[in-house]
Amino acid sequence: MTDLPGVLEAPAGSAEPASGPRITGAPQLGVPVEEVLVLDYGGQYSQLIARRVRDCGVFSELLPHHTPLEEVARRRPKGIILSGGPASVYADGAPPLERGLLELGIPILGICYGMQLLVRELGGRVQEAEVGEFGRSELQVHDGGVLLAGLPREQTCWMSHRDTVFEPPPGFAALASSSGSPVAAVESAERGIYGIQFHPEVVHTPYGQEILTRFLTDVCGCERNWSAASIVEEQVRRIREQVGGGRVICGLSGGVDSSVAALLVHRAVGDQLTCVFVDHGLMRKDEGEQVISTFRDTFRVPLVAVDAEQRFLAKLAGVTEPEAKRKAIGAEFIRVFEEEAATLAGDGSEEARFLVQGTLYSDVIESGGGTGAATIKSHHNVGGLPDDLQFELVEPLRALFKDEVRAVGAELGLPERLVWRQPFPGPGLAIRVVGGEATKERLDVLREADHILQEEIRRAGLYRELWQSFCVLPDVRTVGVQGDERTYGYVVVVRAVTSDDAMTADWARLPYDLLETIASRMINELREVNRVVLDITSKPPGTIEWE
Ligand code: XMP
Repeated sequence: MTDLPGVLEAPAGSAEPASGPRITGAPQLGVPVEEVLVLDYGGQYSQLIARRVRDCGVFSELLPHHTPLEEVARRRPKGIILSGGPASVYADGAPPLERGLLELGIPILGICYGMQLLVRELGGRVQEAEVGEFGRSELQVHDGGVLLAGLPREQTCWMSHRDTVFEPPPGFAALASSSGSPVAAVESAERGIYGIQFHPEVVHTPYGQEILTRFLTDVCGCERNWSAASIVEEQVRRIREQVGGGRVICGLSGGVDSSVAALLVHRAVGDQLTCVFVDHGLMRKDEGEQVISTFRDTFRVPLVAVDAEQRFLAKLAGVTEPEAKRKAIGAEFIRVFEEEAATLAGDGSEEARFLVQGTLYSDVIESGGGTGAATIKSHHNVGGLPDDLQFELVEPLRALFKDEVRAVGAELGLPERLVWRQPFPGPGLAIRVVGGEATKERLDVLREADHILQEEIRRAGLYRELWQSFCVLPDVRTVGVQGDERTYGYVVVVRAVTSDDAMTADWARLPYDLLETIASRMINELREVNRVVLDITSKPPGTIEWE
């Protein structure tokens, strides 16, 4: 794995790339002793394979299929998984199999395209079938071999392929078939090479996790010791190694990523860390106080909290265009953060040389699978720091998926409310006062409406099921009648979505009774509001936020 030079990304949704500080010496991913590599041939589930392997307690990383053989060998993985992919193995330009992988003496499991590559390379027959096999399929196990031993003879699995294996390579056993796959699983336990046509990583393959576990334990001999506790131990060690006695600064937003990153660093180097929490006045109700009390009072992390509401409101005055709002907030954030960094440096102690960043593994993958330039996650708390501020990044979450970050947060004692907090955009409520200026008055109405929504969603036990739930306040007033009086009040939009990664989202089917409670509370409790509507747009074609 090469060193990953960092570049700062523009705040999400902003058109222009932000200029950033030069990042020096960004650390490599923390690679513990035992790992299984997933080589990515472009399949839509490749990332999920690595996640499932980690669910089995084995550290796993996704690398591009063209990762040099020496690099794979140097890492001495306990096993290698070849992912699926959209190409035909015999098509021109199809991603090839690096033959040398088979000579490393490391067990290999090919999934879908990965299996077809192995079969073709080793002398079996892969051809286009007359009909493809997509979705749920019935698998018949004829010979359990090592991989499928003891599993039901008939089971459901998830398929997604047009090319099919018709004959296994010489010396390989054909273990299973399905209606569209004469050979749906092969193995040569002697050579340590295994292949399955179906996708064990998706939930629609009920025995998938079992099959992966079988490969990881019985074939690769993994000990399965990757856990939240081991992550904490490993990262604490690495942070100490990187930071030594230096001072560290962390922009805290109250989101789960920056919170967990800060706690890990604090666990590692204690009061060498100072967190800076900039309250821009665009947070949800009580959120600022929660962050301050959690970090300062409960965890005793040195924390500078800046109440910058007035400064941000002043910058937002007269601004109505969404990107202009984002830019105004981003720019002001930098100013406040810089001032605080300078104040810290001015207290006579050593200047902070390290900056904590809550970059996740999914950010690393999305920016080039860990081989190219790493993209530093955009966040108004730290995104877009100016060139003359030079920090070395400390990124303790760089190897972790979101669910692992939550597990680590829980392991470190972070309150449930912070561990499970729904994503919240850096520019906060300002981009939810839509089509108009984010004034203090409108922000307060929105904050109160949002508070009611959050309370009711939590009370209904739905908070964790939703990717996001929030209110939007359009710059629109409508006529209503309350008591004997005609009203002319705000419309509050309720937006609740389910999603896995925010790339796509569906509107959540909240129960009618719950919607009724939410709407009547908002209208009864908030004088300024006389109408509540529900957004039923999915993404695409809509976006999650309105601005
Ligand atoms: P959209 O609205 O593009 O949002 O579907 C996708 C995800 O990104 C969040 N989001 C932002 N986060 N700064 C952020 O830090 C932003 O400017 C921003 N805009 C959208 C949004 O809440 C959703 O989770």
